[in-house]
Amino acid sequence: MLITFEGIDGSGKSTQIELLKNRLTEAGKTVNVFREPGGTDVSELIRGMLLNPEIDIDPITEMLLFSSARSQLVAEKVLPAIDKGEIVILDRFYDSTTAYQGYGRELFDTEKITQINQLASHGKAPDITFYLKISLEDSINRTNHMSKDRMEQSGNEFFKRVISGFDELSANYDRFKIIDASKNIHDVHSEIMTHLKQLI
Ligand code: TYD
Repeated sequence: MLITFEGIDGSGKSTQIELLKNRLTEAGKTVNVFREPGGTDVSELIRGMLLNPEIDIDPITEMLLFSSARSQLVAEKVLPAIDKGEIVILDRFYDSTTAYQGYGRELFDTEKITQINQLASHGKAPDITFYLKISLEDSINRTNHMSKDRMEQSGNEFFKRVISGFDELSANYDRFKIIDASKNIHDVHSEIMTHLKQLI
């Protein structure tokens, strides 16, 4: 089973993924967690380029680099784990490419992005996607103290477009569960578990 988490920076994905992983492991499941971009040697090297604030990257190159990192992760880690019947949780997947590169960078040809996403994911779609939704203001407040990577330096207008991308995606696909991530950690976790119990 493939479970993905999406949302803008500061939405609390990592915390929720950790809680979920522990809960599923206690229930006897084998759980693999990977972050995107990353999770393999190649993908971590690409991550270094993508997040480095010193490097200028053209938006199409950026989209292709995120997709390359994804393709390697899916081939090397995700598909083998799923074939063994294990659970894979991804901290971001191709919906981030649609939201950040498609909407954020205004590469609006969503049809083309969808095709590239399918290619990079080797045709594998998530079984369920949790969209941890917070406002731009909450995101700024939660991430203000951190040093900003190349993506995080993209400015408020960029992030408004990213949010509208996630909003549109989550309205269009049934696999999306929209979670109000401004709530406290335990309420968010319970809501996630309620959705998952219907699936597992
Ligand atoms: P990361 O530190 O993992 O951020 P977060 O903890 O918020 O997930 O950095 C990943 C950054 O890359 C994040 O700003 C979102 C961005 N991103 C894209 O722009 N497109 C993508 O396809 C993916 C997977 C991530």
